[in-house]
Parts: sequence; C-alpha cells; structure tokens
Amino acid sequence: MKLLIVNGPNLNMLGIREKHIYGDRDYDALCALIRAEADRLGCEVELFQSNHEGAIVDRIQQAYFDGTDGIVINPAAYTHTSVAILDALKAVQLPAAEVHISDVSKREPFRQISYAGMACGAHFIGLGFQGYGKAMEWLVETLKK
Ligand code: DQA
Repeated sequence: MKLLIVNGPNLNMLGIREKHIYGDRDYDALCALIRAEADRLGCEVELFQSNHEGAIVDRIQQAYFDGTDGIVINPAAYTHTSVAILDALKAVQLPAAEVHISDVSKREPFRQISYAGMACGAHFIGLGFQGYGKAMEWLVETLKK
C-alpha cells in the first residue's frame, strides 16, 4: 500500500511560523513522525511539500499514474481558496483524508471553508502532527475494505 502525503504552502516553515498555533516542531520532525507511522502501519509513504498551487495539482495528478493508493493532504492556505486542488482530487478519484494541524473551525471566518475537504472522505482537524498519523490509519483501514 502506497500513500502520498501532500503539504501545502508555509508548512516547510513549521517550527518558525506562528509557534503558538503550530507548535515548535519543524517540518523534518513532521516527516519523521509520518515515516514512523508508515513503518508501524506497514505501508509505503511519499512526502511532498510545495508552496505552489500548480505543483500541488501536478503531484496529485501524478498519483493517478504512479500506483498511489491514497492521499493525505494538508493544503494549508490553499484549503480555503483552491478549486484547482479540489478538482485534481476529484479527477484522480483516490481515497483522500484532509489534515489541519490547528483547529481551523475556531479560527478566522476565511478559514471556515475547505474546498479540498469536499473531495476527502475523512477530516483530522486540530490534532497537531498526530492528525497525519490518524489520517494514515484511516486510509489504511479504508483501503483494506
Ligand atoms: C493549516 C490551517 C490553514 O488555515 C493555514 O493556512 C495553514 C495551516 C493547518 O494545518 O492548521 O497554513 O492548514
């Protein structure tokens, strides 16, 4: 089983950006947690981070052709703006789970809409880094069915 983990803009700045919201662990620590979770679940994992909307669309499209079984996505700020990422997720029709480190439901009004989330079968919001682990677990269980 092969999972693709997609992280959007500014998530490479974890550990530096707004620590009171996202915590003090950096992107490398997040990648280490995701790889450990993949080992525990016995699946393959590929990590992708980009600050560019089109690059994220390209990577999601590529997943259709490269044998990816499921996608975990934190589109970051593009969550709230990108119909292109929503359409890419719909186009590839792979099971997908949405993750947000912070609890977006308790933040600014502009964070209350999630376009990408409309193409996701599960949502792990406000659980910190552990949300990625939970999303991977959900995908593995869903794919086994
Ligand atoms: C985020 C929430 C988004 O609103 C924000 O733009 C991010 C990170 C999160 O993981 O909590 O960059 O997706």
